[in-house]
Amino acid sequence: MTHKDLANDHEGSSPSHKSVLCEALTEWIRLPTDGRIVDGTVGHGGHSRLFGSMLGPEGMILGLDVDPKSIERAQFNLSRLACKVILVRENFARLPEAMKKNGLDQADLIFADLGFCSAQLEDVSKGLSFGSDMPLDMRLDDRLKTTAADLVNRLDVDALADLIYRYGEDRASRRIARFIAQARQGQKITSTAQLAEIVRKALYRPGKRILQRIDPATRTFQALRIAVNSELENLEILLANAPDLLKQGGYLAIISFHSLEDRLVKANFRKNKSDGIYEILTKKPLEAGGEEKAANPRSRSAKLRIAKRL
Ligand SMILES: C[S@@+](CC[C@H](N)C(=O)[O-])C[C@H]1O[C@@H](n2cnc3c(N)ncnc32)[C@H](O)[C@@H]1O
Repeated sequence: MTHKDLANDHEGSSPSHKSVLCEALTEWIRLPTDGRIVDGTVGHGGHSRLFGSMLGPEGMILGLDVDPKSIERAQFNLSRLACKVILVRENFARLPEAMKKNGLDQADLIFADLGFCSAQLEDVSKGLSFGSDMPLDMRLDDRLKTTAADLVNRLDVDALADLIYRYGEDRASRRIARFIAQARQGQKITSTAQLAEIVRKALYRPGKRILQRIDPATRTFQALRIAVNSELENLEILLANAPDLLKQGGYLAIISFHSLEDRLVKANFRKNKSDGIYEILTKKPLEAGGEEKAANPRSRSAKLRIAKRL
C-alpha cells in the first residue's frame, strides 16, 4: 500500500474525500515513534492516518475539527492506529487551549489542511455548493451565528463589494454587489442556486463570449465562505501561536488552497526565518504531480509549505 493509499483507504466508510499531497508530506516529515502530532483540521482523518502510521503505541495524535460530522468520520478511520488518538470539536485558532486541556505542551508536528472536505461540499446543510441548490449557509461550524445568507441580505452595497473584492479578489465586485442589492429588494436571497444565478447575470456581457475555466460565481462563493468562517483570521492566529507550541525540530506543515491563505503562510514563515525561529524546508510550495491532479481535482490548487522549529 502506498502512502497515498494509506491516507485514502477509509475502511468501508464513503471515501468521498481524497487527502492531498501525501507523498510530499512523507518525503519531508520524519517523526519519532513516540511523536506528538496535532492535526488542526482532522477532517476524515486521512492525513492523521498517514502520520499515525509512523507512530507506535507511545505516540499520540490530537485531532481538531469544527464539524462534528468530520470528527465522527475521523473517529472511525483512525480507530485501528496503534497510537493514542484524541479528537476534539475545536477551532484551530484555539490550539493552545486544546493542547493544554489534553496534556500536550509541545508537538513534533502541527498540521493543517485548510478549507473544507469534499463531503462538506456535498452536504446540503452546509450550503457551500452552487452545483446543486442548497440553503445559503456556508458555516463549517454550525455554532457560528452568521450565515452567508445573513451577509448577502444584510450588508450594505459597499460592504458587500469590499467583501467580494477582499476575499474573492473579483474585480467586478461592485457590479456583483449592485446586482445582489437589486435582487434582494424583491425577495430575500436564501439559496446557493439563487445567488449563483444573480452573480452570473451580473457578469454576463451580451455579445461577449468569455472563455472562463471557472464558474463566474466561484469567487463570490469563496469570499462569502472565507468571511462566514473567519478563515484568514483563524489561520493568522494559528501561525502566530505555532512557534510556542512546537518542540525544537518540530514541523509546521500547512496545505492551502488559494493565494490569500498561501500568502499569509509564506509571509509568516519568512518572518520567523529572519527571526531565527524557523528553517523553511520548502523554498517553493510543494504541489501535486500530474497523476494526483488527474485523480483528485481538489489537489490542483493545493500548496504545501513546511517549516521546522529551530
Ligand atoms: C480539507 S478538510 C481536512 C481533510 C483531512 N486532512 C483528511 O485527510 O481527511 C478540512 C477540515 O478542516 C475543518 N476546519 C476548517 N477550518 C477549521 C478550523 N479553523 N478549525 C478546525 N477545523 C477546521 C473542516 O471542517 C474540515 O473537516
